[in-house]
Amino acid sequence: MEVIIRESTEAACGMVAQIIARKVLENPETVLGLATGRTMENVYGKLAAMRRSDGLDFSACRTFNLDEYIGLEKDDVNSYHHYMNEQLFKHINIKPGNTHLPDGTANDLKAEARAYEEKICACGGIDLQLLGIGRSGHIGFNEPLSSLMSRTRDKVLAPETMAQNGPLFVGGDMPKRAMTMGVGTILESRRALVLVTGEEKAAILAESVEGPITSRVTASALQLHPSCVVVVDEAAASKLKDRDYFQWIYENEPEWDDFR
Ligand code: GLP
Repeated sequence: MEVIIRESTEAACGMVAQIIARKVLENPETVLGLATGRTMENVYGKLAAMRRSDGLDFSACRTFNLDEYIGLEKDDVNSYHHYMNEQLFKHINIKPGNTHLPDGTANDLKAEARAYEEKICACGGIDLQLLGIGRSGHIGFNEPLSSLMSRTRDKVLAPETMAQNGPLFVGGDMPKRAMTMGVGTILESRRALVLVTGEEKAAILAESVEGPITSRVTASALQLHPSCVVVVDEAAASKLKDRDYFQWIYENEPEWDDFR
């Protein structure tokens, strides 16, 4: 794991967007794992701008989102299908058939979860998985005590997540369950790219990165990932103990030469 501390939210989001763009340029058929949440809106805005100004080409990319609420139709304004269309897909040249999110309205959720895993495998696995961290320490909707070997499945959401995401719901109540990729699914991605910004995430970021690996904080499982980059702003980094060490690695790692 590498932790990269950037001077501002804007710089952190810009770096994450650049890492994604580089990957797409290097391999136009990249399989991207995508995340939702307020944190990602800035990144998606930047990718849309790169499409408009530099013609960044997403036409051969395939995408798999982490999660979706159970019971929400695709066109429900509160669904992650809607979020992805509004924040990213409609602004870039991705083929709708190449985008995938779990179907939270499936009658047989277990069959849908299995089919989702199979689709990821059929595409050759996820090359780059974008992730945020929720206040409960979740990645995707892998709430505390999720097995660190879990696969895509339905989960009951933690009260903390209800409190975090509930205020975003318009014209209806937030579902109490969601379908999410498992921690095991996420750990199989070839690279994990985590973005965490803002002071309210400082404590959970420190637990995830510097604390023990525990199912109580599923983001801590990313310490097991063979290639995980965590990009944060100064506010989110404010409770890290080893920031000088993280800075040292960042300053001396050739992969980041263009960013410094
Ligand atoms: C949701 C998603 C997570 C995301 C989290 C963070 O709960 N399921 O994948 O990381 O939100 O949200 P925000 O960026 O709004 O803090």
